[in-house]
Amino acid sequence: MTGSIEQTGLPADIPDLPAPGRAAAIPVSATRAGARLRKSRWPARLDLLQSVSGLFLALFLVAHMFFVSSILISKDAFHTVARFFEAAWLFGKPQPWVVSVVVGVVFTVFVLHAWLAMRKFPASFRQYRVFSEHKAQLRHSDTGLWWIQLWTGFALFFLGSVHLYGMLTQPELIGPYESADRIWTGTMWPLYLLLLFAVEIHGSLGLYRLALKWGAFEGRDPVHTRRRLRVAKTCFSVFFLGLGLVTLLAYVQLGIAHADQAGQRYAPSVVGNVAVRN
Ligand code: HEM
Repeated sequence: MTGSIEQTGLPADIPDLPAPGRAAAIPVSATRAGARLRKSRWPARLDLLQSVSGLFLALFLVAHMFFVSSILISKDAFHTVARFFEAAWLFGKPQPWVVSVVVGVVFTVFVLHAWLAMRKFPASFRQYRVFSEHKAQLRHSDTGLWWIQLWTGFALFFLGSVHLYGMLTQPELIGPYESADRIWTGTMWPLYLLLLFAVEIHGSLGLYRLALKWGAFEGRDPVHTRRRLRVAKTCFSVFFLGLGLVTLLAYVQLGIAHADQAGQRYAPSVVGNVAVRN
């Protein structure tokens, strides 16, 4: 894993590296190859790609949390949002495959982001121990945050994939009763609870680290900037965790109330201008 080497810089990870003082014995081709390796722009490009994909996913999730929480307004509101993404306004009638296409794009970026992040994972138990010891010695809070981001990211590999696969293959089953039945009768709520914590913590830490890395919102005093960014990060986490928990609770309540008729699709209370009873 190239990234682990990049990140730790441990010479022992590259067995062919010359020991100091042995340079004269190294063939010219090897030194040229070494120079090419050092000059490669790929680590920087991959870093940029990781930042861009992370930013895309974070912005997507902000929008996603608002769409999903429309259930707090009413069942009809969530039904309208869900049907909107099936593009009936474009094709004349709902097309669930449009949702699958969107999920496919998000899933691809999600996998790409995870693959790029793997460069930073400790590649062996030895690297894991070296990092843990450094972390304990340094007691640097941002290093601790990086560690949390690594583990929440690891959890997202599994939790996020289960959710995305469900959305990809059953796009027509997104709606007030459909989602609530999946969450309660389909026992998805424990997964959503874990996913919610993992994604909100991971996302807010990711945005915080992005802002620091690329110098966004930089003020004159770096200490002051960092403190402000930390406050923003905490507010972001608390807001979206709160919104997510209340939303999840609303789906659970609806799922419990609808458990006897689980599987029944939702019909909106107003079709065109005509009110119908549910
Ligand atoms: C285009 C892709 C996505 C679609 C269409 C989608 C759709 C949905 C829907 C309809 C729900 C409500 C529950 C349900 O019906 O099962 C939901 C909940 C949720 N989704 Fe997604 N989702 C997408 C991507 C993601 C991603 C990438 C993540 C994070 C990695 C995520 C995290 C969550 C969480 C945490 C909940 C629970 C929400 C809460 O507790 O308020 N979703 N999603």
